[in-house]
Amino acid sequence: MTDTDTLIATAKAMVVPGKGILAVDESTETCTKRFAKFGIESTKTSRRDYREMMFRAPGIGEFVSGAILYDETIRQDAADGSRIVDVLNDVGVLPGIKVDTGVKPLAGAPGETITEGLDGLRDRLAEYREIGARFTKWRAVLKVSDETPSRNCIEKNAQALGRYAALAQEAGLVPIVEPEVLMDGDHDIQRCRVVTSQVLQATFEQLSAHRALLAGIVLKPNMVIAGSDCLRQATSAEIAELTLATLREFVPDEVPGIAFLSGGQTGEEACTNLDTMARRGDLPWELTYSFGRALQYPSLEIWGGSNGADAQAALLHRARMSSLARSGRYSAIEERAAV
Ligand code: 13P
Repeated sequence: MTDTDTLIATAKAMVVPGKGILAVDESTETCTKRFAKFGIESTKTSRRDYREMMFRAPGIGEFVSGAILYDETIRQDAADGSRIVDVLNDVGVLPGIKVDTGVKPLAGAPGETITEGLDGLRDRLAEYREIGARFTKWRAVLKVSDETPSRNCIEKNAQALGRYAALAQEAGLVPIVEPEVLMDGDHDIQRCRVVTSQVLQATFEQLSAHRALLAGIVLKPNMVIAGSDCLRQATSAEIAELTLATLREFVPDEVPGIAFLSGGQTGEEACTNLDTMARRGDLPWELTYSFGRALQYPSLEIWGGSNGADAQAALLHRARMSSLARSGRYSAIEERAAV
């Protein structure tokens, strides 16, 4: 296989029908905050144990095509001494790695951020490939207010996504391109649509300027949705209609798949919206999930540091619901089925 064939095959495998991507790439700081909510101590070992619990959930590979890891995890061994990447490979889940180094304030743009991590990225990508990563993730963050995101913030983040994608592909790794328009705020769904359109347009312009192979990426966007403080929340039908219209306008057909982030929606909300979109069918790309919180939350609460079997059952339930949703077969009856 040529390098191009490998990229295309990996991207297709990441968005294969029936499966989606498990995002478990929280930084140590974010993981520690989430653990603290449930009184769980955050140590290198507890973070490893939590993530290993998920990767060893029996049958996880039926619903999950790939897992996005954080730098600490991809280098770790499981409790029995085997490498975490091998635990994933053994259950048919592709190991991936978040390669951005987080957001920093964007100079001259009050309240806005730029995602960093391009310096030295070529060397880090080569190392991650050695360790066993097959794909990567970079997340740009766009905040919606009356004044933001600025043109400058949209362009600088899109440029970074373009450079990152080209470097990842050069290393033989599929880039997940994640331009996230945040749900925070009281803006309505139409404002989210306008911003998401601007952001996707700039992102694809930069992917093209950096000569990224579109057949070898996975796009990870937000759904087009009202801000979480907006008094008029949109219906699932409105979310599906505006999200699909926006994606059809700006995402080229060569892109093999679109894997939504959950962004603060509950698991049920994210599944309902994905399912509504899937039922409309006839799309040029696979439509799937790359959820973090919407897959992990009930499981983390139940795990509490030790309750592995029940936490695995909760994760598998959310994973199965998400799989049904991407297939247009999600329902309240399935949701209520015994966990
Ligand atoms: P959420 O689904 O919790 O938004 O996380 C997905 C993710 O990977 C954010 O970068």
